[in-house]
Amino acid sequence: MGTPSALCVVGCGYVGLVAAACFAEMGHRVFCVDNDQARIDLLRSGGVPIFERDLPELLSRHRNSINFTGDIEEAAEASDVVFIAVGTPQDPTGGVDLSYVETAISGLSRTLTRYKVIVEKSTVPVRTSTRIRRLLERHRVDPACFDIASNPEFLREGSAVIDFLHPDRIIVGAESQRAAEVLARVYEPLTSGRYYEQPGALRGPRSAACAPPLLQTSPESAEIIKHASNSFLALKISFINAVSTLAEAVGADIEEISKGMGMDSRIGPRFLRAGLGYGGSCFPKDVAAFQADSAQSGVGFRLLDDICNINDYQKKVFVDKVAGALWTLRGKRVAVLGLAYKGGTDDIRKSPSIEVVQRLLSEGAVIVAYDPAAMEKTQTVLPVSDNLSYAHNLYDAASGADAALILTDWEEFKSIDLDRLAQVLRYPIVIDGRNLYSAATMVEHGFTYISMGRPDASPQHVRKSCLAAEPSPEASLSEVL
Ligand code: UDX
Repeated sequence: MGTPSALCVVGCGYVGLVAAACFAEMGHRVFCVDNDQARIDLLRSGGVPIFERDLPELLSRHRNSINFTGDIEEAAEASDVVFIAVGTPQDPTGGVDLSYVETAISGLSRTLTRYKVIVEKSTVPVRTSTRIRRLLERHRVDPACFDIASNPEFLREGSAVIDFLHPDRIIVGAESQRAAEVLARVYEPLTSGRYYEQPGALRGPRSAACAPPLLQTSPESAEIIKHASNSFLALKISFINAVSTLAEAVGADIEEISKGMGMDSRIGPRFLRAGLGYGGSCFPKDVAAFQADSAQSGVGFRLLDDICNINDYQKKVFVDKVAGALWTLRGKRVAVLGLAYKGGTDDIRKSPSIEVVQRLLSEGAVIVAYDPAAMEKTQTVLPVSDNLSYAHNLYDAASGADAALILTDWEEFKSIDLDRLAQVLRYPIVIDGRNLYSAATMVEHGFTYISMGRPDASPQHVRKSCLAAEPSPEASLSEVL
């Protein structure tokens, strides 16, 4: 088999749509399938259903090489490789609901009359490839007509396109050499470095001289690599958050600690940002799925429980800080800056910010919220009420508020006009769940500044410590000591 004639991507969500656009960018002809007809219609008319940098540009650039359809059979029929990128939501037991995967596999089984590679792209539990094989055998598909492979995706929301085209690594877990070779050809534009020399190629960390490696593994190893990688990153975040609690208890500064730890090349500086903890559609779900997977395999993995517990605790720590600063919360007006689970996205799934808002509302606080992108989505779960409203910008949100809370690490919140913020707030109090500012800067602008894993700071405290540090010339030696 030469270069695959066409690729079929089943599922037009974050992973599927980004994969389809990027495969087209790499020169492939792509069918992109979804059973949500409204979504297909929107995509066909040039609309983009998700907020993701670079995606609108790629979709419009490749309008002629991506075919959006609701017909999985037609799309799979015309393709040599079928990527399954449908949703794999968490089920009530913490495991993964694979019903969409099962529906997609059943849907394409009739098209398996000539050889195709079926690729798990969604994050799935270990041994899903075996289950897919069994399902196809039950549909009486000739085993010579397909191979299953696992090709997990590591893209992050907000930088998904660049992550896809400039990956750290490409993992191909294949059950046969034939399938591995097909996937190697799909990714050849990246692994050979050819893509990066193409006119108009999107710039990122990779280049022709530094092309991404492709690691071939068994399907089971590939499935575990995805869950283990996300759980390990979640572990780094929970670890630094646990250290931040200790730092607070002893008056140390978590930002200094993260910096010092990150300078060890074996640890590295990334994913050591302390704060409200992780959220989103992946980390919480993947850690839970890894827990369920380990338990089902009879393997105790209690470290995973600690990762989740520490992450939950961070939200309580934050709400306690708000209560500590404002004393009682009933009737207090607070400005909430940030609703998305992280900056650069409108996604609010498992957003720590949403949980904090819910807790504050249940304590009787009155909230005016602002987010650069996620307000529309938030209003579907937290509609406007007597105690909750939404503002057009952060200064309107803060106007007359007893304190401003920074809950999401948006770039916009890193460059607030601090003098203006101090002027519009009723009291100049900022409680920062993402440590976006230095205490010195905030105090200089007159704020009481409370953050995560660092000593509280206020103009009064600084004045006192300055006096202590700079004794008057008349002070006696015993006073100075
Ligand atoms: C993550 C993985 O990074 C990606 O490889 C996988 O494919 C999907 O899940 P994503 O959820 O888009 O990506 O965002 P990421 O940037 O990894 O952040 C996840 C969460 O961790 C966010 O809530 C973020 O605020 C939080 N985080 C991240 C921290 O609290 N501290 C950090 O140091 C880093």
